[in-house]
Amino acid sequence: MRRLVAAFESADKSAHSIKALMETNTQRLLHTFATLADLGQEIANTADFEEMLRNSFHLLLGSFAIRRGAVGEYDRDSGQLRLIASRGLNQSQNASLPISTEHARELASLGSALSLEDSTKEADRFLEDHREAFAGAEINLLLPLVVHERLIGIVLLGEKATADKFTDEDLEVLRILTRHIGVGIHSHRLLEEIESKAEENRRLYDGLRTIYKETVHAFAAAIDIKDRYTQGHSVRVGKYSEIIAREMGWDDDAVEGIAIAGYLHDIGKLIVDLNVINSPDRFNAKESKEMSRHPAAGYEILSPISHPYADIPLMARYHHERIDGNGYPDGLKGDQIPAGAKIVTLADSFDAMTTDRPYRKKLALADVLEDFRANTGTQFAPEVVCAFCRAFLKEIEGTVKEQKLIKLLGKNYEHVERVSPLLSQMISDLDGGAMAAGAR
Ligand SMILES: [Fe+2]
Repeated sequence: MRRLVAAFESADKSAHSIKALMETNTQRLLHTFATLADLGQEIANTADFEEMLRNSFHLLLGSFAIRRGAVGEYDRDSGQLRLIASRGLNQSQNASLPISTEHARELASLGSALSLEDSTKEADRFLEDHREAFAGAEINLLLPLVVHERLIGIVLLGEKATADKFTDEDLEVLRILTRHIGVGIHSHRLLEEIESKAEENRRLYDGLRTIYKETVHAFAAAIDIKDRYTQGHSVRVGKYSEIIAREMGWDDDAVEGIAIAGYLHDIGKLIVDLNVINSPDRFNAKESKEMSRHPAAGYEILSPISHPYADIPLMARYHHERIDGNGYPDGLKGDQIPAGAKIVTLADSFDAMTTDRPYRKKLALADVLEDFRANTGTQFAPEVVCAFCRAFLKEIEGTVKEQKLIKLLGKNYEHVERVSPLLSQMISDLDGGAMAAGAR
């Protein structure tokens, strides 16, 4: 009887310890599952992804009490299996094992774990073919990671610490766990490829943008060469336009666009009679008519080109329009004129008045500003004149880093600071609307 009780007690203890062992194993498995599921969150970061993969693989080994194993990623191009995680094998992490294309195809079509414990045809062939690669590695189980029928990698596992064979249930759980690893590696590489393609596209786009800008500069130079009295005019108008637009709070892309519009605003002059352009005198009526063709001609030249900034042809067309509607070619009024064209108009006039022409010398700065003051609200947009004055005053007072506008004016204008009071007065009048209202 005592023996029977002892036997019962012993059986009860065993049941308890088996139950405890099962619970521990289940907990470990659940933990491994959770870690593998988290792999998805790290697919965007190579360092974190591989670290997480290593951690989850080590947990997987722990769940099954396996001492040796490795996870390798298969690269079709090089035919190499790069080990991402490795424990207890001769091969160190980051080592590579060669896998022939034929074997990669066979493993991909296998669809299940390849047990090397039993002497099967596939197992024998694999071991024979990879004797050198796996020498001394003591691999018992090989689980191909297959996504969309392609071999992504391989999980290699050694024997269990208990020396028990892997059961069918073990194999099923391992298949599910390693599927997570395969999909994780596949998604991670896919994202890397997409990022690399996006980077390549960015580079191509930047290259195209550079070619576009260089072409624009070449055109600006071509326009200015045709007109020998206004050397560098187009480039300066581009730069003045940029300064004004920046002061008006335009964003970087729009500022880049207005600079290009400035460079190209006179492109229509390419079709104007060379003798008219280079006439040493003021234009007569016939010459004025010929010259006035250039904004519309510029629009015709620029319209068929797809510009990164949409308004460029319109800015060229309307840079001789006036707020009061007395400009050309379309006689647009006020807000009908695009904001960019209003900026180019002022930049164009500023450069025309601050450079020598065959029929007159450049004007004194104060006279240029007085001209702006007199024509604000009729020829020029008040907000553009105000922004120009603010940008100019900031440079004179040294509240901006670069003296871009002053540099463009060159050495021919000394003591620019003398126009500070006039600029301040104009800004104050324009802010209060006096100049615009007075001009109406
Ligand atoms: Fe013009």
